[in-house]
Amino acid sequence: MDTDITHVLLVGGTGRFGGRLASALLARPGIHLHVLVRPGTRGDALRGVAEHGVTLVGGTLDDMRSLDSALEGVDAVVSAVSGPPEVRVEGQLRLLDSARRHGVVRFIPSDYSLDYTDADAGDAFMAAHRRVADAVVKSGVPHTFVLCGAFMETALSPHAQVFDFARGVVSYWGTGDEPFDVTAMADAARWVAEVVVDPHAAGQRLEFVGDVTTVNDVAALYEALTGQRLRRVCRGSVEDLRRQLVRARPEGASVQASSAHLSVLSQLAGKGRLREPANAEYTRLRPMTLRDFVEARWRRVPASARVTLPLASQP
Ligand SMILES: NC(=O)c1ccc[n+]([C@@H]2O[C@H](COP(=O)([O-])OP(=O)(O)OC[C@H]3O[C@@H](n4cnc5c(N)ncnc54)[C@H](OP(=O)(O)O)[C@@H]3O)[C@@H](O)[C@H]2O)c1
Repeated sequence: MDTDITHVLLVGGTGRFGGRLASALLARPGIHLHVLVRPGTRGDALRGVAEHGVTLVGGTLDDMRSLDSALEGVDAVVSAVSGPPEVRVEGQLRLLDSARRHGVVRFIPSDYSLDYTDADAGDAFMAAHRRVADAVVKSGVPHTFVLCGAFMETALSPHAQVFDFARGVVSYWGTGDEPFDVTAMADAARWVAEVVVDPHAAGQRLEFVGDVTTVNDVAALYEALTGQRLRRVCRGSVEDLRRQLVRARPEGASVQASSAHLSVLSQLAGKGRLREPANAEYTRLRPMTLRDFVEARWRRVPASARVTLPLASQP
């Protein structure tokens, strides 16, 4: 049975994941979607969606007054913001404060990550998740935390520094058989759209996993599909990786690069894995497997149209 949550405010709806969340929330019957849009940013491109029943509200996390007016008449808040600590931590704490004062009955902070309660998972970057999560619990605002491992889109992107398909190189630590959790962004978004109205999800930290894979599995799948041979480069042992992650604390690194990098490498180092997926509680959703994802991404490009560097010239 769903709650009587109807009006959902999405913050960060103009972002990469936020865009998927907007689509998933819009597809959920009974939800009226409000999206906070920063004046003068790429959010202006959203103006056209108003005709689909979306209420666009001008505002920013930096301005409490704009948050207070965005929260008027809202039952639930879903955040998909990203950025430096002023946004990710201070901004979300302002949003939480406004949500508390407006009696919001569900708050989902911008997690969609590894298990950041594993204190060693990703150091400073994950510490920001922990700070917000602690504040959410203390605030007394009914909430749900959503964890999904690494996004497939991110894990397979050059930002994660594991797969560089354009150059035909795959980097790994240990044996390449260390498992990691991955979920397609669209699936994570559909799960959020389910849990935001699910009364049983209140007060829970829910883990969803699209698939569990390894570096070797992904490389083998890609090779089988494209006929392109990847050069494997072992960067060291899992212990070496752990030491590197401690040294390379992500302060100062770009948020996108840190997030992508840590979402996979922390898991390869055995940190932040999701142990109790709640997939079975949401049987309507059949997540994409890693194979589905790789096939959908590379099936369309005929091998003849792909540029393959000769192995000797690769770094
Ligand atoms: N598990 C994974 O592998 C993984 C990978 C990537 C991301 N994530 C997580 O997914 C979430 C979203 O990340 P993303 O990559 O989709 O982010 P993104 O594309 O960078 O989008 C960030 C969003 O935050 C908004 N924003 C930034 N500053 C704001 C402010 N002061 N006030 C209001 N809105 C503001 C942006 O609005 P404008 O359009 O106005 O700039 C944009 O909508 C984050 O929690 C991130 O850690 C997880």
